[in-house]
Amino acid sequence: MTDLFQPVRLGAIDLPNRVVMAPLTRSRTGSAGIPGPMNATYYAQRATAGLIIAEATQISQQGQGYAYTPGIVTEQQIAGWRQVTDAVHREGGRILLQLWHVGRISHPSLQPDGALPVAPSAIKPEGQAFTESGFAPFVTPRALETDEIPGIVEDYRRAARNAKEAGFDGVEIHGANGYLIDQFLRDGTNQRTDRYGGSIENRTRLLLEVTKAVTSVWGGERTGLRISPASPANDMRDSNPQALFDHAVAALAPFNLAYLHVVEGATGGSRDAGGFDFQALRRAFSGAYMANNGYDLPLAQAALAEGRADAIAFGRPFISNPDLVERLRTGAPLAQSQKETFYGGDEHGYTDYPALTRKAA
Ligand SMILES: Cc1cc2nc3c(=O)[nH]c(=O)nc-3n(C[C@H](O)[C@H](O)[C@H](O)COP(=O)(O)O)c2cc1C
Repeated sequence: MTDLFQPVRLGAIDLPNRVVMAPLTRSRTGSAGIPGPMNATYYAQRATAGLIIAEATQISQQGQGYAYTPGIVTEQQIAGWRQVTDAVHREGGRILLQLWHVGRISHPSLQPDGALPVAPSAIKPEGQAFTESGFAPFVTPRALETDEIPGIVEDYRRAARNAKEAGFDGVEIHGANGYLIDQFLRDGTNQRTDRYGGSIENRTRLLLEVTKAVTSVWGGERTGLRISPASPANDMRDSNPQALFDHAVAALAPFNLAYLHVVEGATGGSRDAGGFDFQALRRAFSGAYMANNGYDLPLAQAALAEGRADAIAFGRPFISNPDLVERLRTGAPLAQSQKETFYGGDEHGYTDYPALTRKAA
């Protein structure tokens, strides 16, 4: 019977176990978004994960939506990430980069020249942005012109190339949690009348164009996609999510993606998905299926044993348990993560969660 501690192949990426570290924004790379030694230590501490998906990383300054998040744009950012990937590889791990454009989930103070954030349509999200001067209400974004979209697709392609230069083992396209790609997919945020809006086919177009650009760099076998079809995160809704995501996943078939990473339910909240059939996505997809959201050891083992997933991504448990794989394997208790230190700050609540047993020096 399949379990968490068996190897698995995702496209061209061989994992020694099926415990994946989910992407986790920690806002610890300074105003210039450059990873440094502290970030390298944090990821290296977690290198026993079957796979690390590094935190969401902006593909352009326009794609940034939170203070102190990393980019994959400048030479310094690429060099910073190189320290991280080298440190993970020295520990025998594997690491992908999550490519991110936040769309409307931003604030002028984070945008080039204080511009408005961009989105498929000028619809203001509920909630607040995390800026360098604290929380600030979201603003009404500017709807992208049709002829601006190829430039954003090129930003993804350049970021994918930069991720290669930075030594990653592949990339994950962030299509989840109410950011730009998700904003185009769902009709609560996409009210466009051009070829990127209206029908499900049109709303899926940006995802397919981005996937084509990214796989032109990495091939499908080193590219994954994350989606959250039933999540309201970042004020999202859609009139028919099953039809939308069934179509999107089927349309991805030509790209032979390594894996589909699905946040099942409300991100970080209830696993109740209002009847959404995730297994329909699994059946429609030829690559591996990675499940996430609220998994613990029994839930994860059941999903693998029953063939409902090929790998399980753990988010919060990896924040406070650098040796999560070993703890799950031995049934050791898990340390609880502290919310106050999730975003921003220093080593505290970041690299100071101890492993149960330290390797001899
Ligand atoms: C501190 C924090 C940061 C997160 N950052 C990201 C991110 O950068 N990209 C992403 O796709 N999801 C992000 N998420 C969502 C997690 O990847 C994951 O979907 C969520 O925590 C549910 O999984 P869990 O129950 O195993 O924690 C974040 C969640 C938390 C708690």
